[in-house]
Amino acid sequence: MRLNYPNVTWNLRHIDTFQYLENNIIMNKLNLVLVGLGFGAAFAPIYDVHPDIASFGIFDPDPTLAKNVAAPLKKARIYQSFDEVLKDSAVDAVHLVSPIPLHVEQTLAVLNAGKHCACTVPMALTLNDLQAIIDAVKKTKKSYCVMETAVYSTHFFKVMEMLKKGEFGSIQFLRGAHYQDMEYWPDYWMGLPPMFYGTHAIGPLVMLADSPIVRVRGLGSGTMRKELQTQYGNPFPIETMQIEFASGLKAEATRSLFETAHAYTEQFNLYGSKKTFEWEQIEREQPVLHTLLPPKTGENGKPMRGLPVEVRHFPTGNFHVLLPEEIRRFTLRSADYDETNPQLSLERDASGGHRGSHPHMVHEFIRSVLEERKAYINELNGANIVAAGVCAHESAIRGGEIINIPDCFLW
Ligand SMILES: NC(=O)c1ccc[n+]([C@@H]2O[C@H](COP(=O)([O-])OP(=O)(O)OC[C@H]3O[C@@H](n4cnc5c(N)ncnc54)[C@H](O)[C@@H]3O)[C@@H](O)[C@H]2O)c1
Repeated sequence: MRLNYPNVTWNLRHIDTFQYLENNIIMNKLNLVLVGLGFGAAFAPIYDVHPDIASFGIFDPDPTLAKNVAAPLKKARIYQSFDEVLKDSAVDAVHLVSPIPLHVEQTLAVLNAGKHCACTVPMALTLNDLQAIIDAVKKTKKSYCVMETAVYSTHFFKVMEMLKKGEFGSIQFLRGAHYQDMEYWPDYWMGLPPMFYGTHAIGPLVMLADSPIVRVRGLGSGTMRKELQTQYGNPFPIETMQIEFASGLKAEATRSLFETAHAYTEQFNLYGSKKTFEWEQIEREQPVLHTLLPPKTGENGKPMRGLPVEVRHFPTGNFHVLLPEEIRRFTLRSADYDETNPQLSLERDASGGHRGSHPHMVHEFIRSVLEERKAYINELNGANIVAAGVCAHESAIRGGEIINIPDCFLW
């Protein structure tokens, strides 16, 4: 991390000034490396132009891929190995977008090398590994940021904004889902228990409830061909879970990975006492907002049975104004961004990676480090989200037995 001493004359003879400088270290730029350039490549152009990035590096064991990713960028330096990243004392922070089986060992290596760490999901696949990450953050005093796309989507921002204004009334129920077919993905996906990667279905629910999950009941369903069952000993192509939050609120989440006919979607619904938000059935259509209206009066002068409900499509807009100007365009797909009229194009609904989430995640990681605060999703609430999924799968294996989330994962 570079130290910045703005507008103060550096003069060791003036001891007061010196102490001021020592106590007011302002860290305004980061030296950051992005590791893993499959899905990770989507983040490279964002870091490359983020105004708080001093220097930017990339690493992937595939040198051709690294070269291709670096080619259109202004400042990407290519690292030759993960070890070189760890050993470079100038590197402040690392964003991991490597294959799932590497997340834990690489996260611990980054933290133990004295660097801040962001990691793509899932954070880990076991409760022990979640605990190891929590312990490492505590020990190293470095930041850990969960890069959860569903929680930085424009739909999430809109719903959270309305929730804070009281427009939904009280939350009565939450529902999350993530359907995605994983045939022909890398080997480590084959037969993965659906709730081991439940984060996109569970994450938004935890953040909207603003309360940790304390208890789950999971059910596995369907049949899956034998070869998919061997790697993880998981017989289920689809799992669903009932959730109880510490606040008393309840929710459910569903996740499918194989042999289930449903188009890709990461979604959540919020059922409120005044309004209900429902994610669209077909991606790139608009979500639906239900609003409970005052009663209609019947011919007998009495209120008619059942309150009327207004239902309409509901654009969620683009929360680009929360971002530095340089990275606002990444809330849109490049085809939707008009260089000649940026302002007008940014007024459209966010259409870029995972509903506009990519630049928001990047910005939150950078700003949480520079502001020396916890990221919005960090090692504590992040671990609760993953632990709930891991316990739900265990519950499904035990035929739906209710499982309490261990106290260490209730932030
Ligand atoms: N919505 C989301 O948040 C979302 C979407 C897609 C993927 N992901 C996550 O992103 C990660 C990467 O996904 P992917 O589809 O690109 O995976 P992938 O397995 O296809 O490849 C990831 C990249 O990592 C590289 N890699 C391999 N070994 C490495 C090592 N030792 N160190 C660094 N890099 C290494 C590979 O060469 C490859 O370019 C996964 O963990 C996945 O769970 C999250």
